[in-house]
Amino acid sequence: MKKNSNKAWGGRFRMPLSKNAEKFTASIDFDKRLYKADILQSIAYAKALKKAKVLNEKELKKITNGLEGIMRGIESGRIKYSIEFEDIHMNIEKLLIDQIGDAGKKLHTGRSRNDQVSTDLRMYLKGEITEVIALIKRLQQVVLELAEENISIMIPGYTHLQRAQPVLLSHQLMAYYEMLERDKARLRQAYERCDVMPLGSGALAGVNFNLDRIFLAKELGFSQITQNSMDAVSDRDFVIDCLSASAQIIMHLSRFSEEIILWSTFEFDYIELSDAYTTGSSLMPQKKNPDIAELVRGKSGRIYGNLFSVLTMMKALPLAYNRDMQEDKEPLFDSIDTIKEVLQIFAEMIKSAKFNKEIADKAVRKGHLTATDIVYYLVRQGVPFRDAHENVGKIVAHCVESNMELEYLSLKQLKEFSDKFSYDVQRIISAEASIASKETVGGTSSKKVREAIKSARTNLLRDKA
Ligand code: ARG
Repeated sequence: MKKNSNKAWGGRFRMPLSKNAEKFTASIDFDKRLYKADILQSIAYAKALKKAKVLNEKELKKITNGLEGIMRGIESGRIKYSIEFEDIHMNIEKLLIDQIGDAGKKLHTGRSRNDQVSTDLRMYLKGEITEVIALIKRLQQVVLELAEENISIMIPGYTHLQRAQPVLLSHQLMAYYEMLERDKARLRQAYERCDVMPLGSGALAGVNFNLDRIFLAKELGFSQITQNSMDAVSDRDFVIDCLSASAQIIMHLSRFSEEIILWSTFEFDYIELSDAYTTGSSLMPQKKNPDIAELVRGKSGRIYGNLFSVLTMMKALPLAYNRDMQEDKEPLFDSIDTIKEVLQIFAEMIKSAKFNKEIADKAVRKGHLTATDIVYYLVRQGVPFRDAHENVGKIVAHCVESNMELEYLSLKQLKEFSDKFSYDVQRIISAEASIASKETVGGTSSKKVREAIKSARTNLLRDKA
């Protein structure tokens, strides 16, 4: 009987697929980026088929050479894909069969696109995660350099965006270092989830000949193999893990961006961004806008959206594979591409920024930021904490009314509020003294911050992966 369809699956069909349905179902436009994983997977699979005596030596050779040729063809741009063959898997298979004939038709024995696509995606993601981790490390490096160079700068630390206590700028920068450290840990967990090979699960039920899955995993660099064929072909947790790790990264960078945007306002003025990383206004000649930081902040929208799109797509899907799952790729690729671009540009932008020590220094002395230190001073003199708090509150109210700064009150003025004050209060009332006194691990004293920078440096050097 004449085949009515040109498709690999055309046997049971009496009519060709409509053009619109073909266009609607095709994924080649976006899954073509999986070509390398797909070809490497197929070469390993052919070897396993040879071990299982499905292929002979000659056929294996033909397949391997054919696939390597296709890889070169794709990389040189010689090869054009066709939506007629839906996705990257069938495009490559079709090219192979056209080139080498019958041996090519044997390659898919026991394999389904269901275990194939999941294997491709995991291989691809392992590579991408490694790159994202390297980019995070690069950004951490820049943060460390800034923290080192600017160790002498004090800024107001904020809560509720109200000035709270003096901190070292480097301390605040190092807070982002810590967040990025956790981001790497999350990516490593996602990597582990990707590092489990589904190949050999068939469409959903497993394979009925002697396919050596352990051998395949070794060939493809997977450290584990999946243990249930139905789970293997329908699990996209690893995709969601990557999307979720990306969402936390962009959440952190959106916070960092927000501070940069605030700090570069005329009102704060703690930082000046380089001309190379700011843009102007088409109308107002004086403008210099922090567009890069704003876009990084704004990209959190699409990255959170991508996470929710895949979570929602997966919700309530019955086992095993469903075509819905093809919808995992565009959000995933978008998040990966966006995160990589963002990490790169953000590191460049902050590296070239200049901090404004004088302005920060003035800011840190305005707003009674050492009030808490004075409370502790009184506590050390035996005043119960609540009474001390009340008392210093009154001193602050007095300062506000008479337009004075706490840090500049004389001993005589302080004594009007409590006889517990003596000359040594002058030693704790300044921003410098306040910072120097925060000596617990994780505190903002310059000693502790220097230690934190030093140990971060050592960890970063040691962190090879
Ligand atoms: N392009 C498909 C995807 O990305 C490949 C798997 C298709 N499997 C199938 N039985 N239709 O999910």
